[in-house]
Amino acid sequence: MDVEIVGRLLSTLPADDDHPYRTGPWRPQTTEWLADDPEVVEGEVPSDLDGVYLRNTENPVHPAVRYYHPFDGDGMVHVVGFRDGKAFYRNRFVRTDGLMAEIKAKSAQWAGIAEMPDWAPRKDGWGARGRMKDSSSTDVIVHRGMALTSFYQCGDLYRIDPFSAETRGKETWGGAFPTEWGVSAHPKVDDATGELLFFNYSKQAPYMHYGVVDADNRLVRYVDVPLPGPRLPHDMAFTENYAILNDFPLFWRPDFLTQGVHLPHWHRDMPSRFAVVPRQGGRDQIRWFEAESTYVLHFTNAYEDGDEIVLDGFFQGDPAPADNGMGNKWQRAFRFLALDRMQTRLHRWRLNLVTGQVREEQLSDLISEFGMINSRHAGRSYRYVWAATGKPSWFLLDGLVRHDLLTGAEERIVFGEGVYGSETAMAPRVGSTGEDDGYLITLTTDMNADASYCLVLDAARIADGPVCKLKLPERISSGTHSTWADGTELRRWHTADTAAQAIDL
Ligand SMILES: [Fe+2]
Repeated sequence: MDVEIVGRLLSTLPADDDHPYRTGPWRPQTTEWLADDPEVVEGEVPSDLDGVYLRNTENPVHPAVRYYHPFDGDGMVHVVGFRDGKAFYRNRFVRTDGLMAEIKAKSAQWAGIAEMPDWAPRKDGWGARGRMKDSSSTDVIVHRGMALTSFYQCGDLYRIDPFSAETRGKETWGGAFPTEWGVSAHPKVDDATGELLFFNYSKQAPYMHYGVVDADNRLVRYVDVPLPGPRLPHDMAFTENYAILNDFPLFWRPDFLTQGVHLPHWHRDMPSRFAVVPRQGGRDQIRWFEAESTYVLHFTNAYEDGDEIVLDGFFQGDPAPADNGMGNKWQRAFRFLALDRMQTRLHRWRLNLVTGQVREEQLSDLISEFGMINSRHAGRSYRYVWAATGKPSWFLLDGLVRHDLLTGAEERIVFGEGVYGSETAMAPRVGSTGEDDGYLITLTTDMNADASYCLVLDAARIADGPVCKLKLPERISSGTHSTWADGTELRRWHTADTAAQAIDL
């Protein structure tokens, strides 16, 4: 392994920190690494794996103003690249405006999601709630060969070089980027058209927009999606012809909001609502569908089937789990992040465009979330979801499940006590034709070995265990959202002799 340290930030976190989402598996890193040919501790790097796996992570540099929430941390992107049977690894902080200002101030300047906005030393800020730091730490996608990181409360999209993980400024879409509202996490890329679909939300009417950026990076559509009030959408879905937005009955209590208090509440007697918008359509073409009350953090996919839109995602049996007195103060405080407490199960909604009716069904008894698919099937009919299972009462991913939506079969792998994974991307094998003909890639935080590994599994046989296990330079913080970009999507990838050269070109 050829390892170089390329950067290090000065952390002001206390040495005796006891916050479980800043210690143990969530211990943040301060070092930025460049490692070529990381040590292969099991198997070998598949020669038909070509592209980059990218993972974003909340990785705090400074203590919170008062109360840290695991979604507040600064963004760090990890890259594992695969080409010609070799691999490389890099990690870099996302150089957001907020991070740079806090480095200068040597302390937190904005209040986190569990804090009162008034507590922030700075009066400005970002996010649907306002006065937050846009840490760009939530999601990462690749559009037109450039990685884009995003923030769940809406903010800028930071352009990240997919080889080096270096920040290359903010996305502007030729000056048309909706800077005032920002863009939510989970914009979607349709590989078939090269378009990027996105949404944003705020406390101002119309409360939500939907937008389309074309394959030439031009904002070609920006549509009002009027809602009854401020909402907290997190994800969207699309089919070949439609975008699907949502209005779930989990939102800030309006009576508290007038006093400046942002208290999320599940209004369980209200229905869930889905907005179906023709991808090329406008506000007057939005159709709403009502379904059972829930909240959905993540959808897996959607597609058209005759008169119906099939929409799959993780239904929450209990979007607002009560404090049942079980566990320590941290488990109780962060019960909203535990998959078992939220009861997240794969679910299907069928929205009938003719009758306006919705039929819905649970697709699996198993509690899972963070589902990934073969992106070539995004917006089209598909069969497989690869999702994460969670450690009970914690925000930690302890294994993987392959859901076969055709047969209902499930195949699982558990990483083992003290080993936690990330959202697991599906990388189609070079020249693949089948939907599950490819690899799954994840990064682990292994508390037993005090190390982190990149695992590569056969997407068709996950229970067989990794076909390749690479050792990273140090144990990294646990994290979630990730993506895969084929080498064919990446500029310079094959014009350079080596990945290292591609970075420099
Ligand atoms: Fe998310």
